[in-house]
Amino acid sequence: MRAVVFDRYGAPDVLRLEDVEQPVPKEHEVLVKMHATTVTRSDCAVRAGKPFISRFFTGLRRPKQRILGTELAGEVEAVGAAVHEFGVGDHVFGTTSTFRFGTHAEFICMQESAPLAHKPAGMSFEEAAAVCDGVILALMGLRAAGLRKGQKIVIYGASGSIGTAGVQLARYFEADVTAVCNTKNLELVRSLGADRVIDYTQEDFTKNGETYDVIFDAVGKHSFRRCRDSLKQGGIYVATDGLRNLILALWTPRLGGKKVMFPIPPRYTKKDVLFLKELIETGRYRAVIDRRYPLEAVVEATTYVETKQKTGNVVLTINGSRTR
Ligand SMILES: NC(=O)c1ccc[n+]([C@@H]2O[C@H](COP(=O)([O-])OP(=O)(O)OC[C@H]3O[C@@H](n4cnc5c(N)ncnc54)[C@H](OP(=O)(O)O)[C@@H]3O)[C@@H](O)[C@H]2O)c1
Repeated sequence: MRAVVFDRYGAPDVLRLEDVEQPVPKEHEVLVKMHATTVTRSDCAVRAGKPFISRFFTGLRRPKQRILGTELAGEVEAVGAAVHEFGVGDHVFGTTSTFRFGTHAEFICMQESAPLAHKPAGMSFEEAAAVCDGVILALMGLRAAGLRKGQKIVIYGASGSIGTAGVQLARYFEADVTAVCNTKNLELVRSLGADRVIDYTQEDFTKNGETYDVIFDAVGKHSFRRCRDSLKQGGIYVATDGLRNLILALWTPRLGGKKVMFPIPPRYTKKDVLFLKELIETGRYRAVIDRRYPLEAVVEATTYVETKQKTGNVVLTINGSRTR
């Protein structure tokens, strides 16, 4: 089968297409024929080997995993003898488990118990490939903050993968949602369910005198220090990035008062994929796709993701994939 591989850390052009051996499903595994996947910021970080400390997990001198990619949508091609949940021909979507990759390929084997489910009815493969990562990372942040009905939340960086998911989920949790993004994405973010949107090029939300229960920095561009005065007493700043936030998340909860939460490492579970499937099928969640590229254009797609300016998600289609 064809797959995108890399053998050393570096710029996007370390990625290349190669013929590799097609995996064979073990007893509890399904073999998925891929129709679509995505390029995420996690793929980019692992490929670049940055921050350096991450190489203790991904391989110190060279990457342990040759094939990147975590999100998937495709069709079950074969199943192991002990698999009950899926059958040949089923349409599935999901994500690999934490620190497992391998979806930038024509086929992947997944454990039946992995974060994998039947594709939501009425959703294309491209859309289904572009929902799990942002949702699961956003869910972790909102759960860490214990977001409840009626609470006031700011989603900063509301136009990214985690941000667009965060807005839709915060609305689902019936919070009062203020979303902050750039001018070009105001309408999109409003359409995702934000109660109000703030254009960060025009207004600094930390200077408008409002206070919030939760500030979710979904794009890793803000800071607890700058947000502190905009948090209510006992308010929570949720981080998605930055070593500094790791330290703050360790000691601010001990001090009482306002605190930082940084829920890592991510935990990708089947339960959350099934929860997402239900949200989609009941019209409470939709995919946000910026650009689509064929697998062969993975370097171009990755270079775009690394601008850190994508809106929602960037999809890779495989073998001129079927859309439904
Ligand atoms: N905790 C984890 O396990 C984990 C896993 C994966 C990723 N991450 C981190 O989570 C963060 C978000 O990831 P993502 O994939 O959601 O990001 P993303 O999709 O790449 O975010 C891009 C979006 O952010 C907006 N943006 C850029 N600069 C901004 C700023 N200064 N203020 C507000 N918005 C800004 C961009 O729009 P404009 O430029 O037009 O504003 C764009 O729409 C990243 O820092 C990533 O490294 C964490």
